[in-house]
Amino acid sequence: SSLQITPVKKPVPKLKSAKHLAPQASALKVAVLGAGGGIGQPLGLLLKMSPLISDLHLYDIANVKGVAADLSHCNTPAHVADFTGPAELANCLKGVDVVVIPAGVPRKPGMTRDDLFNINANIVKTLVEAVADNCPEAFIHIISNPVNSTVPIAAEVLKQKGCYDPKRLFGVTTLDVVRANTFVAQNKKLRLIDVDVPVVGGHAGITILPLLSKTKPFVGFTDQEVEELTVRIQNAGTEVVEAKAGAGSATLSMAYAAARFVESSLRALDGDSEVYECAFVQSELTELPFFASRVKLGKSGVEAIISDDLQGLTEYEAKALEALKPELKDSIEKGIAFVQNQK
Ligand code: NAD
Ligand code: LMR
Repeated sequence: SSLQITPVKKPVPKLKSAKHLAPQASALKVAVLGAGGGIGQPLGLLLKMSPLISDLHLYDIANVKGVAADLSHCNTPAHVADFTGPAELANCLKGVDVVVIPAGVPRKPGMTRDDLFNINANIVKTLVEAVADNCPEAFIHIISNPVNSTVPIAAEVLKQKGCYDPKRLFGVTTLDVVRANTFVAQNKKLRLIDVDVPVVGGHAGITILPLLSKTKPFVGFTDQEVEELTVRIQNAGTEVVEAKAGAGSATLSMAYAAARFVESSLRALDGDSEVYECAFVQSELTELPFFASRVKLGKSGVEAIISDDLQGLTEYEAKALEALKPELKDSIEKGIAFVQNQK
């Protein structure tokens, strides 16, 4: 399945019964919180092109009215509505199936994702509180950095609100997979469409661990290629931050990756039983409470966490996995403590 640029024209079946006269349309509702931003705007455009979406709710603290007016002129089926500021947040969220959260500040050169913690932790906490109050059953996709901490923050908020379902909370790490696929295909001169590299761990620096030995189709790498590709994938966010030279971080590739993850979630909600994506979720794959890995998505969220990828790691991957654990553990604990210390 892929995002479609032209409006979907389904043939009307030649049957007399009235219920067959209208084409069957999917009626899933998606909200984007932070929809006026660098990621939010192109993400809104990509979601407006999805035939699976009936309603697209765009929320921001400013500048979202114009974005929604603009998008609403595209002749694709999704109905666009705008919501500005905390007073309109509840209405934005009611009845929504998937909430995507790219709200918050991005990095500038020289910063780590953790340097965003002080501002973004509060933003994510406040928004997830509203999700708990208004659409507690929605899938929640957290994009705001540092993902390694903002996902545990979201989990703690949902626990406090008595509606935490770990199957429905996701840290979006799709961009790491998108990058790994692109770089490996370029390096090995493979058709992009064929390449799939699982990326596990977390979403910052060395916590991003591409499992190149599990690349599909099978492809051999020299030790030097493994080292260079791994480091490039781990630093790809910084590569963009430096190229943008103060104007923010990845927005377009992130919007593409987020749209892919939303589309996969919607396909799962729509009954497709063969949907797999990497995501940062509550997990028992390692001793850490959250871990990114491939997961199987279903109607109620994470249906299974795929453990195969962690079997039979190369020595390089096994070492890198052990090396990432202390940093990932600290980031997770920092997020949990942030919410618990405010009790
Ligand atoms: P941006 O500054 O361009 O946009 C952020 C938007 O969030 C703005 O429109 C702002 O008004 C809005 N916002 C701020 N506070 C808000 C609140 N309380 N409620 C609702 N909206 C609010 O930034 P961006 O480039 O879109 O990046 C957003 C976040 O995504 C950053 O934290 C960035 O680090 C992160 N990011 C994550 C990934 C990933 O792979 N997970 C990739 C790229 C960027
Ligand atoms: C990315 O990987 O591009 C994002 O996490 C943004 C960043 O700060 O690098």
